Amino acid sequence: MRIGILGSGLMGGKLGTIFARAGHEVVFSYSHSKAKLERLAREAGSGARAGTPADAAKDADALLLAVHWSRVDDVLKKASDLAGKVIISCSLPMNADDTGLVVAHKSSGAEKLAKKIPKARVVSAFSTVPSEVLFSVFERAGSGRREAGNGKRPSLVYCGENARAKKVAAQLISDVGFEPVDAGPLRIARYTEPFALLVAQLAYEGDRGPALAYRFEWFEERD
Ligand SMILES: NC(=O)c1ccc[n+]([C@@H]2O[C@H](COP(=O)([O-])OP(=O)(O)OC[C@H]3O[C@@H](n4cnc5c(N)ncnc54)[C@H](OP(=O)(O)O)[C@@H]3O)[C@@H](O)[C@H]2O)c1
Repeated sequence: MRIGILGSGLMGGKLGTIFARAGHEVVFSYSHSKAKLERLAREAGSGARAGTPADAAKDADALLLAVHWSRVDDVLKKASDLAGKVIISCSLPMNADDTGLVVAHKSSGAEKLAKKIPKARVVSAFSTVPSEVLFSVFERAGSGRREAGNGKRPSLVYCGENARAKKVAAQLISDVGFEPVDAGPLRIARYTEPFALLVAQLAYEGDRGPALAYRFEWFEERD
């Protein structure tokens, strides 16, 4: 697939690198530093290059939106025409100092985003894990080592309205090394976004480090 990265920071830089190493064509965009985008592209491998948000959006099969909530309008404007595009958003609707959600309960960042770009196909994914775990998940899946968790991959929830866009998201989630868990329509982001804050709390305030993922397990029902 051709994947445009809108926001090449902790999440976009790492996920873009992993997508490229998994065999996708990747365009890194939206950083204060062009040199940083070029370095990311060089280090990600031959399928990656640096560009503008408009370059990233052009001919993309999917775009990863990975900017702070305060930068969403700016990057969307720079990406220009997003009609029909699959937008996978890991962006959480955080306040300026990243201490709380500015949209919650009655809506979600993902739903607000979908309203801003009604012709795009928004899927919410990847916001429920810290960036620090991404390379480890990818490496474990690639190496075939399944020593932890009874051979199962960690879970990653995603939600959205459009079946085609969700299929693309599930493929990319799987390429990173997670088991995709379809949580339903986009309004379920009202639950996944606060859940992401729980994971962040455990990752950044716990004493076991930030490289944390989660795994849902279904058991046989008993009376
Ligand atoms: N970090 C995590 O573990 C994590 C986990 C789950 C969800 N999220 C969510 O994912 C989103 C991205 O988080 P992140 O941690 O990846 O953020 P980040 O590291 O700050 O990355 C944001 C990117 O946007 C770029 N940017 C910001 N302002 C810009 C401007 N004025 N002009 C051009 N580029 C600009 C940054 O440029 P530079 O390259 O110059 O810094 C950076 O590449 C956020 O909504 C966050 O809530 C993050």
